[in-house]
Amino acid sequence: MQNNTFSRLFVGQNVVTLKRVDSTNTFLKNELSKSTPLSEGTVILADEQFAGRGQINNTWVSDPGKNLTFSLLLLPKFLNPENQFLLNKTISIGINDALTQIIGGNVKIKWPNDIYFNDDKLGGILIENILRGSIISNSVIGIGLNANQTHFPTDIKNVTSLKQILHRDYDLTELLAELCGSIEYRYLQLRAGRLEAINRDYLNSLYKLNQAHKFKIDTEEIEGEITGIDKNGLLEILINGEIRKYNFKEVTFIHK
Ligand code: BTN
Repeated sequence: MQNNTFSRLFVGQNVVTLKRVDSTNTFLKNELSKSTPLSEGTVILADEQFAGRGQINNTWVSDPGKNLTFSLLLLPKFLNPENQFLLNKTISIGINDALTQIIGGNVKIKWPNDIYFNDDKLGGILIENILRGSIISNSVIGIGLNANQTHFPTDIKNVTSLKQILHRDYDLTELLAELCGSIEYRYLQLRAGRLEAINRDYLNSLYKLNQAHKFKIDTEEIEGEITGIDKNGLLEILINGEIRKYNFKEVTFIHK
C-alpha cells in the first residue's frame, strides 16, 4: 500500500495504491465496514484487479499497470435516495469533462454511465450506494478507464483507449489527478443544488440523443430515437410516435 496526495479540496487527497486486489469497489466496501472511518474523497487505486466488476454482474477486464482502475468514496448524505441517479449523472459528466479536455472532443456518455469516444467504449462506472434508512451514507464510485492498453480480448467489441486515440502513452498519475479535479468540480455543483447545470450537461453529452438508432428490447430489434432521461434515470425512447421508458436491464444498444 502506498499513499499519494493531489492538491484538490478532498477528491483524491488520500490515494491508497494497491498492487493487486480482487476489485477496488469490494475492497473499499470492506474497509467501510471496519471501525476507522475513511475520509470523503478517498481513492483506492489498483495496479491490477483479478475480479474486477462491471454493471449487471459483468466482469471488468484490464491489463495490469496499463489503465486506471479505482474506487472513490463519496458521502452524499444530502441526496435523497430517490434522486440517486443524479449522482450517476454527476460522475459521468465529471469524467466526460476531463476526457473532453484531454482528447478535444467526441467524448459522450452512453446511458446510463459508459464513457464513449465515437462509437467505442473508453471507460465504465460502477456506483454502489450504501443506504442507511433514507440516507445515502456511503457511495462507492468504481471507475475503469482504458488508458494505455492497445490490445483487447477478441470477444470485447467496440472498445478503445486513450493511447489508441492519442497515439501516445498517458501518465496514469496525471490522468487520475485530472479526473479527480473534474469529478470534484461537478460533485460540488451537485452539493450546491445546481441541478439545472447537471441535467443540462448530462443531456448535452448523451450518446445518440435525438438520433435514430437500433435497440434490442426483449428479443426484438427496434429502431427508435432517444429523447431524454426521466427523473428516475429511465431511458426515454421515441418508438413509432410514442415515448417509452426503459430501465438498464431492458434495453441494449445495437452497434454495427
Ligand atoms: C461497466 O462499464 O460495466 C462498469 C465498469 C466499472 C469498472 C471499475 S474498475 C474499478 C472498480 N472496481 C471494480 O471492480 N469495478 C470498478
